[in-house]
Amino acid sequence: MIPIKNKDGIARMRESCAVAASVLHELKKRVFPGVSTYDLDQAARELIAQHGARSACYGYQIGSRRYPAYSCISVNEEVVHGIGTLKRILREGDIVSLDIVVQYNGYIGDNATTVKLGQVPARVDELLSVTEEALAIGIRHATVGNRIGDISEAIQKFVESHRFSVVREMVGHGVGQSMHEEPQIPNFLDRKKSKTELIRPGMTLAIEPMVNLGGYRTKTLSDGWTVVTSDGTPAAHFEHTVLTTDQGPEILTIPRLEQPATAKAAAS
Ligand code: MF3
Ligand code: CO
Repeated sequence: MIPIKNKDGIARMRESCAVAASVLHELKKRVFPGVSTYDLDQAARELIAQHGARSACYGYQIGSRRYPAYSCISVNEEVVHGIGTLKRILREGDIVSLDIVVQYNGYIGDNATTVKLGQVPARVDELLSVTEEALAIGIRHATVGNRIGDISEAIQKFVESHRFSVVREMVGHGVGQSMHEEPQIPNFLDRKKSKTELIRPGMTLAIEPMVNLGGYRTKTLSDGWTVVTSDGTPAAHFEHTVLTTDQGPEILTIPRLEQPATAKAAAS
């Protein structure tokens, strides 16, 4: 069963998603050459705490393994679930996926983005813009009356038309009181579209294209978490949590307008 959120659930999803988006927005500003992925993860921990939220990644359990970090930071050929380490120092030319999942007031907000450090090869630049656009296209298809397969198909077609590949082994997902709820949202059409779930109002969906520059295959490193491309080519990842409504999809993971000292100073 796909959970349908009521008014209260939607209000809480707005809050958790705004926090997730603000943390991601702040974290992006801290990505520079010379910074380690451990530093970034610690920054994520602090930012999440400042919002009075909790990292939904930290301690997240799959089988007997618990995720050991506060965020997922995946560099270059790392697709998702990278664990920040002091050894990985970011350099000019890297691309870095930042994935922030928070729990706030009982509800989860999930979003991710990929940023580049300085100049990257043209094809890598294209990988980033195509993946971001694929997310926008997927979101546009999250309309009431459509099926989940419409999202999957639209993302896959767009990505493959640019000669990139969509990751098969991981998928987007419903999100709410749990990080992973029904439905699964593959970034490729894995069965007849008519067999995929019908979209109704009040669903909260984490749509997240993961796109490889080379082949679609991935493998998991011996740390048990970090997913990398099998052929070592770079990968990009963009994600939003989206609410489905009769008026169309609404992106929930938008940072709240900052109300910092600068705004007050300008007003006085
Ligand atoms: N956005 C990722 C997902 O949807 C976050 C996973 S976090 C971890 O699966 F806990 F698995 F690390
Ligand atoms: Co997700």
